[in-house]
Amino acid sequence: MDRELVLVIDFGGQYNQLVARRVRECNVYCEICSYKTDIEKIKEMNPKGIILTGGPNSCYEADSPTYKKELFELGIPVLGLCYGAQLMQHILGGTVEKAPVREYGKTEIHVDVASKLFQGLEENTVVWMSHFDYISKPAPGFKITGYTKDCPVAVAECEEKQLYAIQFHPEVLHTVRGKEILSNFVYNVCGCAGDWKMDSFVENSIQAIREKVGDGKVLCALSGGVDSSVAAVLLAKAIGKQLTCVFVDHGLLRKNEGDEVEAVFGPDGEYDLNFIRVNAQDRYYEKLKGVDEPEEKRKIIGEEFIRVFEEEAKKIGAVDFLVQGTIYPDVVESGLGGESAVIKSHHNVGGLPDHVDFKEIIEPLRDLFKDEVRKAGLELGIPEYLVFRQPFPGPGLGIRIIGEVTAEKVKIVQDADAIYREEVDRAAASFKDENGVEAPWMPNQYFAALTNMRSVGVMGDERTYDYAVALRAVRTIDFMTAESAEIPYEVMNKVMNRIINEVKGVNRVMYDLTSKPPGTIEFE
Ligand code: XMP
Repeated sequence: MDRELVLVIDFGGQYNQLVARRVRECNVYCEICSYKTDIEKIKEMNPKGIILTGGPNSCYEADSPTYKKELFELGIPVLGLCYGAQLMQHILGGTVEKAPVREYGKTEIHVDVASKLFQGLEENTVVWMSHFDYISKPAPGFKITGYTKDCPVAVAECEEKQLYAIQFHPEVLHTVRGKEILSNFVYNVCGCAGDWKMDSFVENSIQAIREKVGDGKVLCALSGGVDSSVAAVLLAKAIGKQLTCVFVDHGLLRKNEGDEVEAVFGPDGEYDLNFIRVNAQDRYYEKLKGVDEPEEKRKIIGEEFIRVFEEEAKKIGAVDFLVQGTIYPDVVESGLGGESAVIKSHHNVGGLPDHVDFKEIIEPLRDLFKDEVRKAGLELGIPEYLVFRQPFPGPGLGIRIIGEVTAEKVKIVQDADAIYREEVDRAAASFKDENGVEAPWMPNQYFAALTNMRSVGVMGDERTYDYAVALRAVRTIDFMTAESAEIPYEVMNKVMNRIINEVKGVNRVMYDLTSKPPGTIEFE
């Protein structure tokens, strides 16, 4: 697609994806590439601006990641951040060395508001610093346009060559005017027009899909999750009945989820596509009978999905394209582009079927971050409850029922989970202030699980011997680490009461306080 591009060259910084997301929030398309990317390739990509990320190394050491000096002579504006700033200065003749004082955290900075980068800012603002090394002397031709108490060269720039080195991290929210600084770079310095908008993405994608698919047939495995739903709707809008979506209800979905998916995509929904719902619940429960080892359960659920999908595909016959819901973080995390990206995306649907006859894979969301997928979903008119769905694992409730899975246990966990989510959502909605600011305890993922434990209780005058439900709620940014959320006691108490009263077979409710690590978010 012909659109303006800002390129982020990654030097191993922890915020590389954040930088790209922030640029995209300025309505400028942005991609990440490794510092090993050849300069010829970069020239070919024709970016309007280049951003060098932070990284954990010291640029003056021999084997640290670096780049050719030629990068700064292309006439393309370059913004170096942290390590990227130091590297730019080092390569161009400045001095970078170990700082006498390490700066870490929120730091007061003084900036020159005459700089294109700081237009519209106050002279004194707060930025996020995290560095051991510092620029002690800027490169020839560079002017110092920002300093802090411990960092004499917090910003150095050469306006004429459009090169900017900033020691802090504008991409991190703690940098109060970070968004404006990045916006100033892409608009004031690079001269971008801001053509990256979800409405035009949707429009352009529909056009591109039509051109690519022609009158071909397309097959999509629809899970009801955000990515596959948005991909399916995009394709449905582009090619209508040439698309067939197969939705496998494995009986391990959340309460009413199968019907919700069918209501949106099925014959009574508003999209013109072929929708096949496979009710494979009994088949799954049969396969899972007597199995209590988590990995074995996962394997059975994954393999069975492929088998069911293949059977349906066989009925449809040869297709031209198979849809994958790969998104941009999958592409970045698997090493940019090429084969490896495809391999990773296969994992997202739990393995690629061997016996489906298709010519090519189509990945309509390959360029999007998750928040952009959601925006595209809203643009496409997909209901909010689908678009803002929590992450839900492929093996579903199968890994939220400890031990053997049975239809009875699925029903218990579905009912308890529905009550829990309803009450948390209700409490969260009443907490939200008029600016839409969420409760500080609002979890990013919250669900009920069924422990395999039964214990004695008393209900009325009767002794009970029933299951214990475990409630989990975590606050996390990347799902790699997580803390249990401090949901108010009165909310939890209400959830407990409702579950005990409304869900047959449960007489105890527990809250899981474990962080990740050492715990995982799911139970199995
Ligand atoms: P864990 O349990 O590994 O979960 O801490 C981290 C995040 O990943 C989700 N998860 C999965 N997602 N297939 C998926 O698509 C899976 O097999 C799977 N296992 C865990 C989990 O819900 C959490 O958001």
